[in-house]
Amino acid sequence: MPKGAQRHLGCSVNLPPSSKLTPLQPTSADKCTLLLPGVEKPVHLDLLSGEDGSGFIDVRSLFDLTGFCIFDPGFGSTANCCSQITYIDGSKGVLQYRGFDIADLAQNCSYLEVCYLLTVGCLPTTRQLEEFEAAVWAAMELHHRLRSFYGCFEKGAHPMAVMIGAFGALAAFTRGSQFSSTESDRLSTAVNVVAKMPLLAAFAFRASRGLPLVEPKRRYGFVENFLRMTFKRPCENWKLDPRVLRVFEQMMILHADHEQNLSSCTVRIASSSISHPYACIAAGLASLWGPAHGGASEAVVTMLEEMRGVELIPALLQKVKQKNIRLAGFGHRIYRNFDPRAVILKESAQVVAELLGRADDRKLLETALRLERAVLADAFLMEKKLYPNVDFYTGLVLHTIGVPKEMYTVIFAVSRAVGWIAQFNEARSTVVKVGRPRQIYVGALNRSFVKMQDREEGEPLSVAALASGSDDWPRLF
Ligand code: CMC
Repeated sequence: MPKGAQRHLGCSVNLPPSSKLTPLQPTSADKCTLLLPGVEKPVHLDLLSGEDGSGFIDVRSLFDLTGFCIFDPGFGSTANCCSQITYIDGSKGVLQYRGFDIADLAQNCSYLEVCYLLTVGCLPTTRQLEEFEAAVWAAMELHHRLRSFYGCFEKGAHPMAVMIGAFGALAAFTRGSQFSSTESDRLSTAVNVVAKMPLLAAFAFRASRGLPLVEPKRRYGFVENFLRMTFKRPCENWKLDPRVLRVFEQMMILHADHEQNLSSCTVRIASSSISHPYACIAAGLASLWGPAHGGASEAVVTMLEEMRGVELIPALLQKVKQKNIRLAGFGHRIYRNFDPRAVILKESAQVVAELLGRADDRKLLETALRLERAVLADAFLMEKKLYPNVDFYTGLVLHTIGVPKEMYTVIFAVSRAVGWIAQFNEARSTVVKVGRPRQIYVGALNRSFVKMQDREEGEPLSVAALASGSDDWPRLF
């Protein structure tokens, strides 16, 4: 066993050294000086740098030294942690998991191989991968009472709503309510998250359609098994073109992690209360659901379908410029010229359209390609760096494969589960600092309390509407 390796769950694990998870101590020369109004002396703040030389000002002592805070809604200029998991250089379109280029991983690895890499920190040998796979398969089971939970949801409920509930409930089926973060616990939690997420996703879909559940079968690989559990028709044998399977597996690899994206950041912040990992992942699921994040692929296909062809592209772009709508699947906080995942998935969309595409799918792809060209040719939109992101082509791939739209974000969640748990484990393996930002308070201050009888009538609220609930509520009383 190599130096530093440990044995857990039958896997040989090379845990990455955690020494870099706190910033390197800066030298005395690495300082910047701030002069602030009302603060007597200049303040000297440390300058820190990442592995790639990117620079950071260490403002942790700023409030105590000066009474000033930084204002950064959306954290666009804020680093919340040191991490060794995923590296992005947004200006060059670079994305690496544990230092390996995403294109190499998508080309050469299985999804579980990438899960091992993200969780453990290195690429597995054949034996290590077999052990990891065996551990994942062994964890691919759900308590029967959790299964009965699915019967409680409305038929047609959005599977993401069901996923959030089911994953949170999973915490109630583990021993103890607290997670003790030993290395062995961390690995076994990661294995369980990777194993259980596809089961929960498949059951959420089947329950929403009133379909019988399909149990996992080892003879299918991990990814095919997920697709089979989700989409197998009750009276038909399961058959899937291996080329389509490969496209799907690559797509899962491309979504497996993305450093401090919104849902991973949510997971990390939730974890800072020393909460249960499954509960933190339920929080990540909630944050992924919206159309500004993981829900974008669903929004992309809806947008393209509503366009019904290329004729409406100029009108659509006009609305975007007037800020009436946002272009689903375009723009990114970090990538400022291209998203390397979108480059690979654009090719995948073309491959599946060739293999499976009906005339309607090809028309949708053609509309998408023309829309991309029109955006890239528009100086105003280019100034805003509106390049297509991963979700633009993910939506098209899933649409052409025939996946129902409400499952797009669920598939993203299954793929990202490993990233969430890797981020959770990393956050919990270092000194935990509770995530608690400050605010700029702009509300009223020091108002005099007014007794009920002395309060003046204001604009009426539609209390009657609030009390009667939604329109479809049965009027029983
Ligand atoms: N359509 C139209 N305008 C846009 C868009 C868009 N998709 N994205 C950004 N802008 C404009 C925005 O109106 C603003 O203009 P101005 O400076 O004149 O006010 C400017 O660009 C900056 O916008 P922002 O919201 O501050 O930028 P951000 O970096 O915070 O937003 C984003 C990133 C992904 C939320 C945004 O680009 C967006 O809403 N895109 C559409 C939704 C989408 O595709 N989401 C998936 C993201 S990739 C997968 C993932 O990580 O989840």
